[in-house]
Amino acid sequence: MENPDKQAILKRLNKHYAQTQAVRLCDLFTQDAQRFDRYSLEVNDLFLDYSKNKFNEGTLELLIELLQLSDFADWRERLFSGDAINVSENQAVLHTILRRPYQLSTRSNGKDLAAKILATRQQMRTVCRELSGVSPHSVCGATITDVVSLGIGGSHLAPAMACRALKSYKRTPSRMHFVSTAGCGELESLLAELDPAHTCFIVVSKKFKTKETLMNARYARAWLGDNAQHQMIAVTANHAEAAEFGIAAEYCLAIPQTIGGRYSLCSAAGLPLAVDLGIEVFEELLAGAYQMDCHFQTAAPKDNMPVILALLSVWYNNFYRAHSHAILCYDTRLELFANYFQQVEMESNGKQVDRYGRQVDGDTAPVIWGGNALNGQHAYYQLLHQGSQMIPTDFIVTADIGSTDYKIASNTWPQANCFAQSLALMQGMQDAAPERIHPGDRPSNTIMLRKLTAHTLGSLIALYEHKVFCEGLIWGINSFDQWGVERGKQLADRFFDYLKNNKCEDESDMLATLDSSTRGLIDKYMVWRRQGD
Ligand code: F6P
Repeated sequence: MENPDKQAILKRLNKHYAQTQAVRLCDLFTQDAQRFDRYSLEVNDLFLDYSKNKFNEGTLELLIELLQLSDFADWRERLFSGDAINVSENQAVLHTILRRPYQLSTRSNGKDLAAKILATRQQMRTVCRELSGVSPHSVCGATITDVVSLGIGGSHLAPAMACRALKSYKRTPSRMHFVSTAGCGELESLLAELDPAHTCFIVVSKKFKTKETLMNARYARAWLGDNAQHQMIAVTANHAEAAEFGIAAEYCLAIPQTIGGRYSLCSAAGLPLAVDLGIEVFEELLAGAYQMDCHFQTAAPKDNMPVILALLSVWYNNFYRAHSHAILCYDTRLELFANYFQQVEMESNGKQVDRYGRQVDGDTAPVIWGGNALNGQHAYYQLLHQGSQMIPTDFIVTADIGSTDYKIASNTWPQANCFAQSLALMQGMQDAAPERIHPGDRPSNTIMLRKLTAHTLGSLIALYEHKVFCEGLIWGINSFDQWGVERGKQLADRFFDYLKNNKCEDESDMLATLDSSTRGLIDKYMVWRRQGD
């Protein structure tokens, strides 16, 4: 049964929304000179200004009540202590244990897991030495010049984002490449430039069954020839499949089964980052994530950064019915952050039944999109400012100027634009010809990092992970499974067989039951492909 108190608070929030939604953001600032001080938070060199949002103290109180009625304290405790909170798969969700310092981890509930994590960390250190390109690989005797990471989804987005963000910390000679897609020539064209004697592959796949990754891994294995024995490393929870594929046990690094794919960067799935930038950088990222974990675990809801972001997200999504949320990064180094976070939010919270299988009453995850804000200003900002819908936005900006490696004259340009855009969205411009009117009253958060380091990036990642956790609690869903991606994959397998071989086992059944659109597209493709031949 749905908690009646929660229903009551939802009713009160609806009423509160009706009473307050017409109050303009600018007026909230006029009414309260302390608004910025009151509604900003600083944690681990991350500063959050959430004052440019359409709420007052009463809104926050109600939203916090809603969170508490969703058993926040209990679920948070269960998350950190390793309870099986992924109810559909009866599994713990233990990404936070990956970043706990050693001494704490060994005393935690996940004692065995902690020991395994440390053993894997040791393997990571060895691999980093072998692949850094500083000295020859101890087995093949060749110096590794290029490392190719093969993985998709969480096994690609997070390490690729982090390597991009922290590129200026690179001190090792070998080059890191990421390949995620298959069938589009991505790997083939990269390998045309590389030398099999000097290239290593890291196959990152928790299940070791993901089609794209395995297709690429097979191609890589053939390309390497005999070198495949010692130039392929697997990062996986499925050691049996990796062994079957031909990867020796000493080259297999474990992702614990209890770590969800999209939360796996802090496991051995972060190996590409550790190889590319050094294990110290990877460990610094873990330390930053751990600090945010501690904040999330201990701070009161009103002072808790992930909680605040989650409450505001729910406020817009469920009461303003604003179903799109932009993540706009005013630092080119963070240009992949929105892509990374898109999976975290949408794969976790894109659900329409609650954790007991009942239809959810209301909307769940908004559409997450965004990217490099300076580019976005010349593309989609038009819609943010003058489009017919309100799109809540997170601006992410860094206070360091590029990095010390790039002392450039145009520094402070990103920051100037960031502050200007959040102001323009809020203020708008009313006294103008109709086509120039900016309605304004459009809300935003600004998250400023003192400096973009592995530490602050780790905190930023954990901030958004915990935000998603809190939203999922309020919506009552299981944020940790992802059955929604399976059906399309099954159909694609059948179509793949048919398209490739021009036939499949249950061909007559399959074709007979197809709708005319899908059948028509397949037939058209086959005709064009034959003509192309
Ligand atoms: O298809 C979805 C998914 O399972 C994601 O959850 C995951 O990040 C991605 O595929 C890759 O999975 P794996 O690491 O098992 O190859």
